[in-house]
Parts: sequence; structure tokens; C-alpha cells
Amino acid sequence: MKSQRIAVAGGTGKFGRHIVEGLLEIKQQHSLEVIVLSRTPASEGISYAGSSAPIVTVDYQDQDSIRKVLNKYQIDTIISTIASIDTSEGFISAQESLLRAGLSVPTFRRFAPSEFVVDSEQVKGIKLYQTKVPIIRSLEEVKAERGDFFEYSRFNCGIFMNYLGYGNTKPEGHKAFGHLDHFPWLIDLSKQKADVPGDGEMDMVYTRVEDVGKFVAAASQLDVWEEYNDMAGEVMTINQVIRVCKEICGERPCFSLYFVDLIEAMQVRNSTSNTTQERKFWRI
Ligand SMILES: NC(=O)c1ccc[n+]([C@@H]2O[C@H](COP(=O)([O-])OP(=O)(O)OC[C@H]3O[C@@H](n4cnc5c(N)ncnc54)[C@H](OP(=O)(O)O)[C@@H]3O)[C@@H](O)[C@H]2O)c1
Repeated sequence: MKSQRIAVAGGTGKFGRHIVEGLLEIKQQHSLEVIVLSRTPASEGISYAGSSAPIVTVDYQDQDSIRKVLNKYQIDTIISTIASIDTSEGFISAQESLLRAGLSVPTFRRFAPSEFVVDSEQVKGIKLYQTKVPIIRSLEEVKAERGDFFEYSRFNCGIFMNYLGYGNTKPEGHKAFGHLDHFPWLIDLSKQKADVPGDGEMDMVYTRVEDVGKFVAAASQLDVWEEYNDMAGEVMTINQVIRVCKEICGERPCFSLYFVDLIEAMQVRNSTSNTTQERKFWRI
């Protein structure tokens, strides 16, 4: 059954807001109810494309507060876009609370955990993503107990393509980032600098964050959710991306390349400091 009444946890966030906007774009067409769950009270909801979603306050430490909200709005689908790097324990327990609260609500039957990068189980070397695994185990258990009535799906999209526009100097270049932070992940156009994971020949998946929002919204209208709903806006090696950057930069086509270990690059870039630890890289 399609999703009809959807709660987006963390939907005030940098990425989550794009999911909310994707849902609001199709809200009227499919007569959806969309609410945003937040720890912080807000006087206004989120408005987009002529529709809006209220922001409803919950306490992730208090399952009953979540249950009451889900019950009140008769939520059938929870999409979690909660930050995974804030505090790992807070993230793990918040997602678990959401699921447990949902299970006590009769209308609830779909859950999307906060994956939205790569399949967290496939990147065992990256500590950050391991905080995403416990909820998958819980979802598998619930699925085994509840059978076809319950569905969950992992939405993975690779890296947000928007990050590749970091350092662009176009007059409206800031629009490249949507609601995301301006974040130098691999490419810095202003410094003509690129960190090359490995030999740069590994295919990587990139998807625009706006497209991820539209994709997840469209997937809410699928009759059946498979366990994986992966997407790819583009698949390119970083060497190919650098060639595109050189073409775009035109008169300054010379990029400095720093060869980095892929796993280390992801660990460093996802640290809370958001800074580049250049000691880890060597220049050629
Ligand atoms: N593919 C990519 O390139 C990429 C890049 C960045 C992020 N992501 C993924 O996108 C997802 C969201 O990341 P984001 O950067 O958008 O996060 P974010 O903006 O930092 O946070 C999202 C929301 O999570 C809520 N939140 C934060 N800490 C929490 C906690 N301990 N317990 C409960 N709620 C908490 C907050 O909402 P309230 O304060 O309103 O409660 C916040 O607005 C993650 O799964 C992340 O891995 C993917």
C-alpha cells in the first residue's frame, strides 16, 4: 500500500528538508499528510510548492511522546533523516525510539532509516556508518515478526553531487548547495584542488540532493517497498569529475591533486570539524 500519512524525523535538517520539499511537491496530487518531527518547537511549519507541513515537537528519549504524535496524525510511514554524526548514541537510540513508538501505532507500517549515502553494511571500515547498522538489525527483526504488513527500505544515493560545486565562483553559485552546508568533499573549485581517492579510477555514485528528495517522495507512492531503493544521479570516477571541472574552470584548468586513501578520506571528511587534515595526503 502506498504511503499516505508521512512523518519525516529530522526534516528541519540540511538533508531532511529536501525530503520534506519533495513530499510537499506531490502532497496535493496524492492527498498526503506530511508532518516534520523535531526536538525543538517551531512557530511555523515548512512551506514549499504551495503546500506546508507542520513541525511537531517530540522527545526521542520519550517513546510515549512520539507515539502520541504518530497516533494523532495516524502516521503510516516514518522517514528518518536524523543526523548520524551528532552523538552516535543519541542517533542510535533516537531511531530505535521512533521505530518502537511506531510499532505501537496501528496505522504504522513503513520505515526508512537514515541511510542516504552508501549501504552502511558494505562499508565496514568506516566507523561513522556503523552507527546506522543497529536500526537495520531491528528492522529485520520486525519484518520477520510482522511479515508483509511491515516494510522498510534503505535509500542510498552515493555522495550528494552538490558538494562537487564547492568553491564555484558563479554569481548564483550558492544555489548549487540547496540546504546543504558548503562542504569541500574531494573538490575545491576555488583552489583548483582535488583529493583523489586511491588512483581515482573507482566508480562513485553522485546524486543531487534535490533529486534524492524527489526520488524518496515518488517512492512513497510505490505499492511495495523493496529492502533497497538505491539511486544514482551519475556514476563517474573522480578522474572523470576532475576532467569536467577543468573544462568548466576554463582559463585556470590546472588542478592540484592530492592522493588519499578512500576510507581515510571519508573518515576525515565526516569528522565534526569539517576541516581537511592535509597531513594525511601527499601531493604529486
Ligand atoms: N550522501 C551524502 O553525501 C550525505 C551528506 C550529508 C548527510 N547525509 C546523510 O543525511 C542524513 C542527515 O544528515 P544531515 O547532514 O542532514 O543532518 P543534520 O542537518 O545535521 O541534522 C538533521 C536533523 O537531525 C535532528 N537531530 C540531530 N541530532 C539528533 C539526535 N541526537 N537525536 C534526534 N534528532 C537529532 C535535528 O533535528 P531537530 O533539531 O529538529 O530535532 C537535525 O535538524 C544522515 O543519514 C547523513 O548520513 C548524506
